[in-house]
Amino acid sequence: MKIFETKNYQEMSRKAANILSAQIILKPDCVLGLATGSSPIGTYDQLVEWYNKHDLDFSEVHTVNLDEYRGLTRDNDQSYYYFMHKHLFDRVNIKPENTHVPNGMEPDADMECARYEELIRSFGGVDIQLLGLGHNGHIGFNEPDTAFAKTTHCVNLTESTIEANKRFFASADDVPRQAYTMGIGTIMQAKKILLVVSGEDKAEIVEKAFYGPITPEVPASILQLHTDVVIVADSAALAKVKELH
Ligand code: F6R
Repeated sequence: MKIFETKNYQEMSRKAANILSAQIILKPDCVLGLATGSSPIGTYDQLVEWYNKHDLDFSEVHTVNLDEYRGLTRDNDQSYYYFMHKHLFDRVNIKPENTHVPNGMEPDADMECARYEELIRSFGGVDIQLLGLGHNGHIGFNEPDTAFAKTTHCVNLTESTIEANKRFFASADDVPRQAYTMGIGTIMQAKKILLVVSGEDKAEIVEKAFYGPITPEVPASILQLHTDVVIVADSAALAKVKELH
């Protein structure tokens, strides 16, 4: 596990974008695993800036996103489909048919999860998976549990996640109760993992996840077993592990 410390969110975003750019340049038809949330927004902005300077070409890139709310239409501004188009896909020359987000409107959960796993397999796997880190150690929508979920599955959102997300919706009743997410096994099969984390509110979970025991109660802790993980974290997020890395 390689940890890069950066001064702040902006520097973290630039470093992460550098790593993703290297992947795109070395393998123009690579498969990027992508995430939503506040952590990767700066990374996407930086990639767009380099694209606008003609330093990057997304024309052969394929993407697969980690997760999506179940029951939200694509044009709902809280769907992850909408987020990805707003922050990246609509701003670069990626082919829309090469971008993939789980279909939140597919009512048959088993079918959608099997389809998504098969899609990733058909690409020969993810070359680099970008991740954020939840305050409770979740990655994707894989919440603390008694076991690690292997493949793409449908999860019931916890009360705390619904509570945390309700600020984005008109009311708590409008927050979806379920989501589709890649499993921990799906994530662990990515050839390379790039996790971005910023802010002192994440310092405690960074210490637990990457310096504590490997346990499904802290889903991100499994990343300690992956052979190619890069964590790009700002100083605030590394505040509790300064002397350890
Ligand atoms: C997003 C995702 C989530 C976030 C995590 C951190 O697709 O899968 O696991 O990465 O909740 O969110 P932020 O970056 O908003 O702190």
